Amino acid sequence: MCGIYGAVGVPDAQQRVFAGLQRLEYRGYDSWGVAGLNHDTIVTEKHVGMIGQTKEFGLPSVSQAIGHTRWATHGGVTQKNAHPHAAHDGSFVVVQNGVVENYQELKAELLAEGYQFVSETDTEVIVGLLEQQRGTHADLSLADVQSVFQRLAGRNTIGILTRSGEVFAIRDGSPLVVGRDEAGAVYLSSDIASLADDAEMAQILEHGQGVHLLDQELIFFDAQTGDTFSPHFIPIDTDSLIISKEGYDHFMLKEMHEQSAVLQNVVDHPVADLQKLVSAVRKARKVYTIGAGSASFAAGQMAYFLRLAGVDAHVVPSYAADSYVDLANSSDLAVVFSQSGETADTNEAVEHFQDQGVQIASIVNMPGSTLTHLSDFPFMLKVGTEVAVASTKALTGQMCWGWLIAELAKTDPQLPTFATVYADCKQAVGRYQAQLREWWHNTAVQSTLQHLSEQLRDHDKMFVLGRGQLFSSALENALKMKEISYIHAEGFNAGELKHGVIALIESGTPVMCLVANDTEKANMLSAAAEVKARGALVIGIAPEENELFDTWIPVPINDDFISISAILPAQMLTYHIALAAGQNPDKPRNLAKSVTVK
Ligand code: F6R
Repeated sequence: MCGIYGAVGVPDAQQRVFAGLQRLEYRGYDSWGVAGLNHDTIVTEKHVGMIGQTKEFGLPSVSQAIGHTRWATHGGVTQKNAHPHAAHDGSFVVVQNGVVENYQELKAELLAEGYQFVSETDTEVIVGLLEQQRGTHADLSLADVQSVFQRLAGRNTIGILTRSGEVFAIRDGSPLVVGRDEAGAVYLSSDIASLADDAEMAQILEHGQGVHLLDQELIFFDAQTGDTFSPHFIPIDTDSLIISKEGYDHFMLKEMHEQSAVLQNVVDHPVADLQKLVSAVRKARKVYTIGAGSASFAAGQMAYFLRLAGVDAHVVPSYAADSYVDLANSSDLAVVFSQSGETADTNEAVEHFQDQGVQIASIVNMPGSTLTHLSDFPFMLKVGTEVAVASTKALTGQMCWGWLIAELAKTDPQLPTFATVYADCKQAVGRYQAQLREWWHNTAVQSTLQHLSEQLRDHDKMFVLGRGQLFSSALENALKMKEISYIHAEGFNAGELKHGVIALIESGTPVMCLVANDTEKANMLSAAAEVKARGALVIGIAPEENELFDTWIPVPINDDFISISAILPAQMLTYHIALAAGQNPDKPRNLAKSVTVK
């Protein structure tokens, strides 16, 4: 959420920052800005809109620059609210990623002293406090920056460029990485991947750590204590970080297709790590499965499978953890799902559960994340970088991993048969991958999806019904329809229908019914019949055709993975609908890939 990029010690720093922000655009894309030090004046350029759609900008060549691509929290999407924000005398600029939770109180204090605000942002409170703290001194000192940082409530990663050429940056919450090249240039970025074009070595800052760049010297410090520390720069693995669409029109399309290849990586882990986790799952008094958005649906799916395996498991959306936390204790385990490992709601829930003594297992896609650091049983998802804002391969990967752990939890990990059960699971995933490859290349299925998307694109509401193992899939499909096609889709347990929802069914209302060959099939078909009787357009997503379906989307015949199969058609439908409406499926409006604010 919001991206920060900085470059110091290169002749075209403004261009490096511009290009770096384009690589960080997935973090927020409503406006952007770059400030550079031109002799002893800071010059700034800001725009509303996506930086990725801008070819050039007009800052002169500078050797020190800092920039920001914004996902608005406080204040509308305007040029004034875009970062960087400048001190009144132009002596420094600030970029921020986070939320100053006590900004109202701080703003009131500054207003009372006569401070004039230019923007509606919480960021400008940081600028005001820095000006207040500096007093009559010409330059900001490290002590000024530290003392202002300590007054900010919430999690705030900040970057400051001063007119005297100093840079200060502190990470709290959202990631911040310091990069260096062999010639001595220094870079700052919100992720390590975006540094690969500029830097060879990286230092990933931990929460509360900062860096001060003074006369080409880097001083690393703890923002609370002020103590300095020695960095441990690591080489940036440039090859593995290069991200491309590989010939696909969009990252979303590429990532959807990759689902038929990456699930094998998802289930590939050292047996000893799986034994430890499964043993913790089997011993736990309760297992809480946690995540936000799509990740919460993967969590719901795993909880369902765990209950079937005899484990007392409960899904807890991370933003709704408060009422569960006091009930949890050290006999419990939390299994946490996150693509980024940086989701503020999720990591905060984890910290609260940890305070109760709960052990934490996690499945995360991005290497080096905060969530992984917080975990007792850290697992990597290994589906490859997911660039499109909406989760596809990460979500189905998480579901596949949840399935694996629930399958393994049926067997005592100390028994020799555990390894055999694990090998069988891996083979089952291998067979499913082959089915998925066929499914993606089945032209009849793909043209049915294209045709159906044309029928659906003029609808503004839609329902998705599922039960049992397909309930979480129904929620996920509805979310995808909302975020990519902007159709108001609601996912329901089909059992809910006659308790209220059916009142909304009119002639032609699209209702997607997810049907498995399981004990819920008869109930699902009854629900399909009930909505059809009221004129609904019934879209059946199922391994077998049924006369109740107005349109049937066949999915692979594979009972183990039907909850994943039931999601793929909706991903493709929503992609087609977005394209037909002229929307960019990779960057849906108002969203950002990494939700690092609450
Ligand atoms: C939906 C989507 C979001 C994320 C959610 C959690 O397509 O991408 O709902 O699933 O914001 O993000 P992570 O998995 O990074 O914690």
